Amino acid sequence: MNMGKTGGGEWNARRFIEEAVRQIKRRVGAEERVVCALSGGLDSAVVAFLLDRAVGERLAAIFVDHGMLRLGEAAEVTALCRDRLQGSFHCLDAKKRFFKALSGVADPEQKRKIIGAEFIRLFKEKALSMGDIAYLAQGTIRSDVVESGGEKGGKAIKAHHNVGGLPEELGFELIEPLRELYKEKVRQVGEALGLPEAILRRQPFPGPGLAVRIVGAVTAEKVALLQKADAIFREEIEAAGLAETLWQYFAVLSGVRAVGVKEGGRHYGEVVALRAVVSDDAISAGWARLPLNLLERVSQRITGEIPAVSRVVYDITPKPPGTIEWE
Ligand code: XMP
Repeated sequence: MNMGKTGGGEWNARRFIEEAVRQIKRRVGAEERVVCALSGGLDSAVVAFLLDRAVGERLAAIFVDHGMLRLGEAAEVTALCRDRLQGSFHCLDAKKRFFKALSGVADPEQKRKIIGAEFIRLFKEKALSMGDIAYLAQGTIRSDVVESGGEKGGKAIKAHHNVGGLPEELGFELIEPLRELYKEKVRQVGEALGLPEAILRRQPFPGPGLAVRIVGAVTAEKVALLQKADAIFREEIEAAGLAETLWQYFAVLSGVRAVGVKEGGRHYGEVVALRAVVSDDAISAGWARLPLNLLERVSQRITGEIPAVSRVVYDITPKPPGTIEWE
């Protein structure tokens, strides 16, 4: 099965959808059910709505809210799925459980593994409680496969929790209709499926969420702080009309504390780093030449609106040698 290429002629999102729906229908029996996991991002939303076309009411969508999404995102995904999916939608509020599991863990790969494992455990519990379900559909895309060393000659760079090992552990057969597509095509498929702009324009977001944008151990307080800083940066980028030109733009809690002056006294606070990159596929990326007045406004707002932050810095490292994320 190679749905990323059309054999001859131009790739076309509508044809891709027709072919993917046909293949899913052929594979999934008329009485069989499919479960899918929503992460809050584009890929899993596209998979859910593709499956919605193929199996309709026989799809059960599960959204595990691990508490490390961006500000407002969990509510957006919930509203979209409740309104538009024909099948059932289940939102699991698992914030406390994730924060507990991550308590005191500073190593990034360890954080990924814990979040991945906890996600699987919760997802499995819920999916099993829903009766007989044969298939799991998930939003693995081409760059996940490449970067996880999921193909011959590939090298494991990061343990992406959305690839590898899931079907055996969960006992489901796996459906991964986007496996051959890079992000831009996934977006075109989403557009052809009629997904709202807010989801289509959504930046790629790592499965472990803000946990890999907080250097060191994660706490609920740090997540809340980062969500605020990130929301300010996003708001200013979007207001400046620059969102479309960037691959990703986000804030990072650097784990460094630096001195600043507040109310006439020395004050040690958090250092927030801003990251904005241009890229076609996330395999390589350049740092975005953002206007200085925009950076200045973001810095003023973050230090002014979030008292715990003493400094804001801008990351000017391309990939390679850096990576897009800080962890
Ligand atoms: P890096 O940081 O390796 O990121 O340059 C490349 C792309 O992958 C995303 N990313 C992840 N996605 N789980 C994911 O699903 C992860 O653990 C993960 N780590 C990085 C990152 O946001 C970028 O788009």
